[in-house]
Amino acid sequence: KRRIGVMTSGGDAPGMNGSVRAVVRMALHYGCEAYAIYEGYDGLVKGGSLIKQVGWEDVRGFLSEGGTLIGTARCMEFMERAGRLLAAKHMIETGMDALVICGGDGSLTGADKFRAEWPGLLKELVEKSELTQEQVAPFTHLNIVGLVGSIDNDLSMTDATIGCYSSLARICEAVDSVDTTATSHQRAFVIEVMGRHCGWLALMAGVSTGADFVFIPEIPPPENWEDQMCKIIKKHRDMGKRKTIVIVAEGAHDRNLHKITPQHVKDLLSNKAKLDTRITTLGHVQRGGTPCAYDRMLATLQGVEAVKAVLEATPETPSPVICMIENKIVRRPLLEAVAQTKEVATAIHAKDFDRAMALRDAE
Ligand code: F6P
Repeated sequence: KRRIGVMTSGGDAPGMNGSVRAVVRMALHYGCEAYAIYEGYDGLVKGGSLIKQVGWEDVRGFLSEGGTLIGTARCMEFMERAGRLLAAKHMIETGMDALVICGGDGSLTGADKFRAEWPGLLKELVEKSELTQEQVAPFTHLNIVGLVGSIDNDLSMTDATIGCYSSLARICEAVDSVDTTATSHQRAFVIEVMGRHCGWLALMAGVSTGADFVFIPEIPPPENWEDQMCKIIKKHRDMGKRKTIVIVAEGAHDRNLHKITPQHVKDLLSNKAKLDTRITTLGHVQRGGTPCAYDRMLATLQGVEAVKAVLEATPETPSPVICMIENKIVRRPLLEAVAQTKEVATAIHAKDFDRAMALRDAE
């Protein structure tokens, strides 16, 4: 009987529970055993009660729950070989040779590294008499399948990461609330949104709420942005608008890669555009709460596909990441998706913003 482990890793995202539920139930449907690994890679490194066999009923109600019910952590020990050695030992002791991980690009890269080292780790465990040759013999290969769980929607090769649409909905609700008070007082609000190095949340929030100006890392504003922003906002006011909303992605910067801070934007709106201005930082509100319908669907369909990918994998198949491209669930090579994601950062760093945007769009 195959034993498949499932874990969530990195920053939590609404929909992660739906993916755990789908993996567990699909694994059982195909006659496998399912194991939940609690607290991300910490659970794998520490073992014991952090690795539990789970049944159909154990994931009841998961679909509509926010966050991750099996916990997550940013685990330092797994970054070291000694931590991965322990993780391999705990996997063999449980009888698992397949892992489905729902997390961001860092978590998925770590998993693929684990897979690459797997034979060497097992050899070392036998040499150190931690395990016997008989114990490790059936586990020649480790299967890794990635599910992208992150509110940032920052992974290349997928249209949507699990969690991004819930987060976007929450941001829109928050901006709608700010709108009413802004209109009452004819105020301007600078709203900072998450996204790390990716501007998707900020851009889509701007589109969805009709913001006056949006700052994102991939397309920095022109050199004269301070004047331009004030001019555009004045024009909107002249047309009768009673409020001003400027959305700043947390990773926003100018063309010289100097950070654009909400405080700087506020000072400009107050002093140059002469608007009564406030700053609202949405923070972790954007990451919490129940998943929207789209994320429940995405998490479920991708969880199902992840188990199929485990069962169809051969030793030669590169670790896949489950993606959504033009409304279809597809598999892509995990390392290629991560490499392309990293290239975006490299392009931004080299001030090649056209390339950064093209890479974000690429499949
Ligand atoms: O990756 C998700 C995210 O929420 C980013 O948008 C943000 O930059 C970061 O995580 C915040 O991390 P933490 O919760 O550790 O402060």
